Amino acid sequence: MANITLNNANKAKNDEFYTQIADVEKECKHYKEHFKGKTIFCNCDDPEQSAFWRYFHLNFELLGVKKLISTHFVYKDLYQAGDTYKMEYNGGADSDYTAGAKTTLKENGDFRSAECVELLKEADIVVTNPPFSLFREYVAQLMKYEKKFLIIGNKNALTYKEIFKFIKNDEIWTGYRGFSGGMWFITQHEVATTKIVDDKKLANVPSIWFTNMDIAKRHENLILYKTYTAREYPRYDNYDAINVDKTAEIPMDYDDIMGVPVTFLDKYNPDQFEIIGSMASTTIDEYSKGYPFIGGERKYARILIKRKSV
Ligand SMILES: C[S@@+](CC[C@H](N)C(=O)[O-])C[C@H]1O[C@@H](n2cnc3c(N)ncnc32)[C@H](O)[C@@H]1O
Repeated sequence: MANITLNNANKAKNDEFYTQIADVEKECKHYKEHFKGKTIFCNCDDPEQSAFWRYFHLNFELLGVKKLISTHFVYKDLYQAGDTYKMEYNGGADSDYTAGAKTTLKENGDFRSAECVELLKEADIVVTNPPFSLFREYVAQLMKYEKKFLIIGNKNALTYKEIFKFIKNDEIWTGYRGFSGGMWFITQHEVATTKIVDDKKLANVPSIWFTNMDIAKRHENLILYKTYTAREYPRYDNYDAINVDKTAEIPMDYDDIMGVPVTFLDKYNPDQFEIIGSMASTTIDEYSKGYPFIGGERKYARILIKRKSV
């Protein structure tokens, strides 16, 4: 029991980063059409604290949302008391974000629990910042129940085996917010990069949005200006592709496989390029081709892409 509690305490520490409402607004404004007439579920969100609950509640009528649901998770063995509940809001008092029907949950509000899965089935779209420690499982569940979603995850998750397969197959893509700079979350914890704003401690975490809702951004062509030369774009020792160091320097006249920085995914348009695989770990399998090497030297992680013929 002591070990379980310690493990959960560590997980809790890593997972308790709260999203700022300004970040929710900046991303969600690009998905307005998707939210219209839909049931939105925030399944890792204490309604008393969550910026997601607040944003959709305050803008319920404006966005034309049909229903808003939020479930509050507690680590039972940490806090003992089972103070878990769901909140459901159907409109009528948008400006009072405490308004809604509160019902106690039988289980602990875990997104995997039977009662939360029933709510997931009822929902059309899931929007939240889930626990980073359970990201793979979290995404697998959304995909299993064929839900639309807009969620925050660590940048590194892009190359997780379990996530990359969906990116490669154009089933998941990244949101509007650019990759640089990380996002600032409200936290109580001591972490590397923090700042205090309005008496709140904010921690910087390299995070991005993941979604499967179509957005205009992913149909914008990347404008290219470089041409291929063998000298500027060396080949890998361990995979038949050329290396490109900057997304902006993808050669416009090269038709075979190229290794590009992972940040390319921020600019990825599936009509312009095809994703072939990744070179971002030691794994070698169907999609992953091991880390890239040139002249015996290991290079940065890369995504393998190929231009589509127009
Ligand atoms: C990164 S925080 C984000 C909280 C909130 N969604 C937000 O954006 O401010 C992840 C939250 O997920 C909760 N959580 C952890 N494990 C969970 C689980 N198995 N099911 C549901 N929520 C969980 C944590 O308590 C934590 O509050």
